[in-house]
Amino acid sequence: MDLEEKEKKHTILKQIDKYHFDKKQLEEAGKMIKNGGLVAFPTETVYGLGGNALDEEAAKKIYRAKGRPSDNPLIVHIADISALDELAVDIPENAKKLAEAFWPGPLTMILKKSAIVPKGTTGGLDSVAIRMPNHPIALELIRQSGCYIAAPSANTSGRPSPTMAKHVEEDLLGKIDYIIDGGDVSVGIESTIVDLTGDTVIILRPGVITKENIEKMIGDVEYDPAIMQKENVEGMVAKAPGMKYKHYAPKGKLTIIKGEIENVIRVINEQSIKKEKEGHLTGVIATEETKDSYLMGVVKSIGSRKEEETIAANLYKILREFDEIGTEYIYSESFEKGDLGQAIMNRLLKAAGYDILEV
Ligand code: TXA
Ligand code: MG
Repeated sequence: MDLEEKEKKHTILKQIDKYHFDKKQLEEAGKMIKNGGLVAFPTETVYGLGGNALDEEAAKKIYRAKGRPSDNPLIVHIADISALDELAVDIPENAKKLAEAFWPGPLTMILKKSAIVPKGTTGGLDSVAIRMPNHPIALELIRQSGCYIAAPSANTSGRPSPTMAKHVEEDLLGKIDYIIDGGDVSVGIESTIVDLTGDTVIILRPGVITKENIEKMIGDVEYDPAIMQKENVEGMVAKAPGMKYKHYAPKGKLTIIKGEIENVIRVINEQSIKKEKEGHLTGVIATEETKDSYLMGVVKSIGSRKEEETIAANLYKILREFDEIGTEYIYSESFEKGDLGQAIMNRLLKAAGYDILEV
């Protein structure tokens, strides 16, 4: 047995119906967290890989299982707004307003950390990311564990975030103690992150809670300029350390084609026909509106432009599906318009390594 084999864990898999479950079904997983173990669990955004947020050893295990650099801080998940006062200090009025408005929900707030939060959880920073997820299993798991749960997305670092338990198994089986299968997530992309530690409130990561949603509650906020750009351009550094790493990437080469939809369809057809003729397996990310317009390659509809939430919900799943069939080149339509455009394009651009062709 080589070393790697010896280190393999037995991962317990447990299915739980998020609409009908008994609290007792989460007792075992809660104990795992309390005793320093790692449990993957569903939230409304993506699956999380949870450990005790106040235990630096648990944080180390999380980084190790994901293969994630330990300067990339974790989000602390809570089940009750009152936890804010324990985990953070100097909490601005705006934070309270946003918590009241959007929690439980897909919003993460960066605040100054209190002394109880170890730097092993915050990647060495003096701030802490806090979120109350809107998912009955996640909330009950936090209660059962009696802990605050630090949880990054439950994928191997660099792969698309998991939106089904199957994705977590692909990446983390044998590396963690427990996986709770609570079905498919509803949102499909990670929470909106807002930084409330400075004079200006800044969105570090766009999500389904939009800039407009937030501004309705607290007035003007800004986007971190690094959100839609390739990092390290002219010394620009993303304020959420996680944004600087290659992310969400499928194994095939993904290119986004942007422009009037007729032009986009024409260019994607030209490209995919060329690649297929050269003998490469090619994929197309289309929509319900356009899926019949593509002539070659594996065409997958990501959702409908009339219901942008469907596009967010399917994005990571589709990238993983293209990996599974071994697609070498993937061409995607562009989604910069609409309320969720920022959030969807932010993920798609990263997945494409910022390879975007304007036509
Ligand atoms: O929807 C979500 O937020 C999911 C679910 C599981 O809750 N979690 C998630 O975690 O997406 P993760 O670790 O994949 O992304 C957390 C992001 C990273 O980009 C990290 O750098 C940033 O949050 N972050 C965490 N703490 C921070 C801090 N103190 N200051 C700035 N950015 C922080
Ligand atoms: Mg992640």
